[in-house]
Amino acid sequence: MHKTIKQKARIKVWDIGTRLFHWALAVLFCLSAFSAFQDKFGIYADMHLWSGFSILVLVTWRIIWGVIGSEPSRFRHFVKSPKALLAYLRGKGPEAVGHNPLGGYSVLLMLLMLLAQAMLGLFASDGMFFGGPLEAGDDYSSLVNNTHQMLGYGLFGVVGFHVLIVFGYWALRRVNLILPMITGWAEHSAEAPNIARPLLALLLVLIVAAALYGLIF
Ligand code: HEM
Ligand code: HEM
Repeated sequence: MHKTIKQKARIKVWDIGTRLFHWALAVLFCLSAFSAFQDKFGIYADMHLWSGFSILVLVTWRIIWGVIGSEPSRFRHFVKSPKALLAYLRGKGPEAVGHNPLGGYSVLLMLLMLLAQAMLGLFASDGMFFGGPLEAGDDYSSLVNNTHQMLGYGLFGVVGFHVLIVFGYWALRRVNLILPMITGWAEHSAEAPNIARPLLALLLVLIVAAALYGLIF
């Protein structure tokens, strides 16, 4: 008996919610990073607060979407065992629909760091003009600020590395990961995965935004 080799076909990998999440996150992250180094009053304080709050909303949405969303966006789908990661690194793993095992771990790391960073920001204060809406008391203030600052620099490194790797796949391995993150489609020989309804994604982001706004402000 011989295996039939399936033809490659265009399949939908990233739903509209995941794609909008990604590009909105990229823009907001740039705004957060830029405003972090301006004098934080007036427009730059607002920019830092609201870009950070929006990142908190998006990442919370993404974590829930990672459980109830489209198949390729689910953690269960892309966070593989260390054994699968090793097999992938040795070039022996199966073709990945969506994030490959290495990408899966880096996505998890970025989401957790972003969540922690935005949450810490809520309690941070520069001791002068600008503080998060839940500003920590004197006892914890320097711990919170230092951690927020260090994690901020850590994120610049990890996110910078992410962008470098994505362009590296393109330049060195001729794999274009960016186009699927824009259009949603990719060439695969695998079955088309289940894609969740966009309305569910929209409803969820509205609920998350309202709930976090109510909790924080
Ligand atoms: C020019 C800038 C960027 C490009 C070209 C880019 C490209 C990409 C691509 C191609 C993927 C999919 C990778 C895969 O197929 O496994 C991805 C995923 C991801 N990127 Fe970026 N990225 C950029 C900026 C950023 C920034 C600034 C952040 C974070 C603040 C970020 C966070 C993420 C996250 C969290 C995912 C996982 C998406 C998901 O599963 O929801 N990216 N990026
Ligand atoms: C994920 C998004 C965020 C990133 C990447 C980020 C990044 C940073 C960085 C790098 C600094 C230190 C700047 C320096 O070295 O001078 C900083 C300071 C600060 N951030 Fe954020 N931040 C984020 C979200 C937030 C949020 C949501 C708030 C809430 C209002 C916030 C409040 C603050 C405050 C009060 C400071 C000043 C603390 C100090 O002077 O040590 N940040 N942020």
